[in-house]
Amino acid sequence: MPRTYNPQLGREQSYPYEKREEERDWHWGMVINTNRCINCNTCSFACKSTWTSGEGEEYMWWMNVETEPYGGYPMGWDMRLLDDLGADRTIFEAAEEGEQVRGYVAEKEDWEYPALGDDQSHGEYPAGDVVESDPHEEEYHDMWQFYLPRLCNHCKNPACLAACPRKAIYKREEDGIVLLDQERCRGYRRCVKACPYHKPMYNPETGISEKPVGCFPRIEDGNVPRCVSSCIGKTRLHGNINRGPDAGRPNGVSSAAAGRSPINYLVKSDEKVALPLYPQFGTQPQVFYMPPFHVPPEFLTQMFTPNVEEKRNDWPGSTYEESVKIIQRRARDPSHHVLGILQLFGATTRLIETYTVKENRVKGWDRKGKKVVDMPIEEPMEVREGEQWTNQ
Ligand code: SF4
Ligand code: F3S
Repeated sequence: MPRTYNPQLGREQSYPYEKREEERDWHWGMVINTNRCINCNTCSFACKSTWTSGEGEEYMWWMNVETEPYGGYPMGWDMRLLDDLGADRTIFEAAEEGEQVRGYVAEKEDWEYPALGDDQSHGEYPAGDVVESDPHEEEYHDMWQFYLPRLCNHCKNPACLAACPRKAIYKREEDGIVLLDQERCRGYRRCVKACPYHKPMYNPETGISEKPVGCFPRIEDGNVPRCVSSCIGKTRLHGNINRGPDAGRPNGVSSAAAGRSPINYLVKSDEKVALPLYPQFGTQPQVFYMPPFHVPPEFLTQMFTPNVEEKRNDWPGSTYEESVKIIQRRARDPSHHVLGILQLFGATTRLIETYTVKENRVKGWDRKGKKVVDMPIEEPMEVREGEQWTNQ
């Protein structure tokens, strides 16, 4: 089986498909700040009304929001697979004899309740009338829940693509979006079984499968996907994850806008604040999450880091758990630079290719070099003179 380096795991892994080794200049990516998500599902409905409102698509939610730790669509999707993988095997390395990928097909009833577990907290109500903060670590809560928006990750090692015997799934050269060619598909459903995030779905009316399309027509026009533009909590930023600090300026753009994309900074700079979901699956997902800062790090360590004891040199703490704590603190109390980038979330429907943070202003440019955002990072706060009003 071919080998490929996986930077999210910090090691080589097997991947059963000859992939393009060199990185694309432009690759679809997204950062989601879970601390801002309110589970309104505007993103889910925007996606559904755009892409999956036809016959046979009734149960298809390409975009869904789950309440952690009890929600899941399909039910139990992550725990079921993690139990099968054990300590340090990707889904490719744990494949059974004759298979390319380890996975499972969710049953019909697993798909029937996309809102199962919504708003259920983990932990017990303390006895007595007053809920007190946890004395062992005031930063974290005894009772907690958080919302996890889930979508196709347009992985760099897509399991759906590797599993299809018809080669009906491909990764676009220009932006890394993973698409399913419905003319080639014969409904084998290996993709449905293989994707550890369960995003390809079978349409019983047409007899072929469908998968999320990364809103490619909008990306081609320089706009962000519908789930990003519709998000009322301004939880998301979309863009070119591969645009690093040494990138030159786009054509016609002033030199002020040269350099990395804002999502590349959040994911890959020394100030890493966003993490991939279950990187231990080995697909190199390209949706990254700013972790919720009130949730105990033991839980998040399992969800957002490779499933191994040792820690890698490019992580900030001495263990993965310590690293997650540091990243949570950065999300709770962001640096001025990260605060500037956070203002770009939801600021425009145009796709922000480059940005600058200077003093109290953040600016963003689109792929054509047009300035699309120019705003203050912190607004002055006015304190009114005089006595506070009372009704006494
Ligand atoms: Fe394929 Fe699933 Fe990865 Fe999307 S999340 S690219 S469907 S393996
Ligand atoms: Fe291939 Fe999935 Fe169709 S495995 S044939 S793309 S159902």
